[in-house]
Amino acid sequence: MRHALVAVVLTACGGTPEAPPRPETPLAGGDTTTCDQTTGAFSNPAPNLNDQDLSLHLAGDVAFDATFVTPPATVNAGLGPVFNNRSCSACHVKDGRGLPVTGKGAQGSMALVRVSTAESAIQTEGAPLPVPGLGGQLQDHAVYGVTPEVTVAIAWTEEPGSYPGDGKGYSLRRPKLTIERADGTPLPADVLTSLRIPPPVFGLGLLEAVPEATLLALADPDDADGDGISGRVNRVWDEAAQSTVVGRFGWKSNAPNLVQQAAAAYLNDMGVENPLLYVEAPELDGPTLSAVSFYTRTLAVPARRDVGDPRVMRGEVLFGEIGCASCHVPELKSGASPFAAVTDQRFQPYTDLLLHNMGFDLADGRPDFVASGTEWRTAPLWGVGLAARVLVGAAFLHDGRARTLEEAVLWHGGEAERSRDAFRGLRAGDRAALLAFLESL
Ligand code: HEC
Ligand code: HEC
Repeated sequence: MRHALVAVVLTACGGTPEAPPRPETPLAGGDTTTCDQTTGAFSNPAPNLNDQDLSLHLAGDVAFDATFVTPPATVNAGLGPVFNNRSCSACHVKDGRGLPVTGKGAQGSMALVRVSTAESAIQTEGAPLPVPGLGGQLQDHAVYGVTPEVTVAIAWTEEPGSYPGDGKGYSLRRPKLTIERADGTPLPADVLTSLRIPPPVFGLGLLEAVPEATLLALADPDDADGDGISGRVNRVWDEAAQSTVVGRFGWKSNAPNLVQQAAAAYLNDMGVENPLLYVEAPELDGPTLSAVSFYTRTLAVPARRDVGDPRVMRGEVLFGEIGCASCHVPELKSGASPFAAVTDQRFQPYTDLLLHNMGFDLADGRPDFVASGTEWRTAPLWGVGLAARVLVGAAFLHDGRARTLEEAVLWHGGEAERSRDAFRGLRAGDRAALLAFLESL
């Protein structure tokens, strides 16, 4: 059956009678592409997994959904004592992005707040320095009998703006965090905070398998080509390798690989000690950690839609012309990998995985390894057009401040300021074309 599906991908995927697929358009996820455009579009196993790998993926799917509980339960015990949520899928709902919720208790639902002390930048290896008594992340939930570390409330302030050409108005919202410690006191004034929503988790094995040399070749830290865009790699601590490597995952490319990303989520988001990261003794076994990482490595990438639609094609041209593609690099290639399904693939993630200065308005002011307080990883754009279908209210940008793709573009600053201004300067029809292109991803 799965072989039949692959044939469908190559011939019919993404087309409608009005807008048939263009045969030359590369598949979004190479051989890992799925045709599914439903609310489950992010939750399919890559169609090119062999039977053994499919079993491992499905075991990982179970682990991703597993709800953790308090010891001494015998199954999925190990939650807490403090935590943010009880399962991977409670935050990465349907394997997609999260949404920030307004008001108190907002954090625990999906988004989380990373914290560190101001001296982080000078620490060895550049890792953010944990805050005494709080660690590197605020946990606003706790098991029975334990007091959560903090309560986090999010409020939004609206800021009006308008397009210079036709005067069409818009409103952008900025988050304001109020954090109270268990004893009612505020955090010390020098604690740096960074609110982050969960990114989607499909297609990540492909990104993990992009050769480091490719990323270094895309980087232009001193802007040698003078285009105003100077991406650079993050360099982060790899716990298994016990060395500093190029970062790829997280909103600041602050994690080196998918095993460590999962291990950190178990430890910090759920309070589950695991074989890679533990304080006292692992509460999770090695095979489960491998399976859940494999799951995030091998989720299929949804195919593009409406690629033959003239408006979408016009938007694609504009995307290149106004400089979006300088950071959101359309195509990457994976190299050798221990994981067959993601080896040697040509795919379209629309990211360079590099850090860019995005300006003061988007800054969190909290360094994360090499990444400064104004730098963020170019967010992959594959699947953004399906985000709202997968989860109503799904938001964009690191803290979920953008309610729409249009708002996400309007927040761009720093190295992307020229590109954003070019977007604001487009005629209404061209703005709509650019957004239609984003919706087709
Ligand atoms: C409390 C909510 C929450 C829980 C629970 C959670 N995550 Fe996440 N996840 C996040 C956030 C927020 C980020 C972004 C982190 C950052 O930028 O540092 C993230 C990032 C990731 C990424 C990186 C995606 C990318 O594009 O870079 C992966 C992979 C991931 N999580 C997997 C998992 C797995 C596996 C689990 C369960 C073991 C899990 N997460 C549990 C909130 C959560
Ligand atoms: C200088 C590099 C750069 C340029 C140029 C750039 N972007 Fe981005 N883009 C980023 C970064 C970095 C982020 C993540 C920022 C954040 O989360 O705060 C991002 C985020 C986005 C998002 C939100 C994605 C998500 O997952 O939340 C969209 C949509 C987007 N960009 C579209 C565009 C468009 C359209 C253009 C051209 C008008 C453009 N970008 C130009 C770097 C760039």
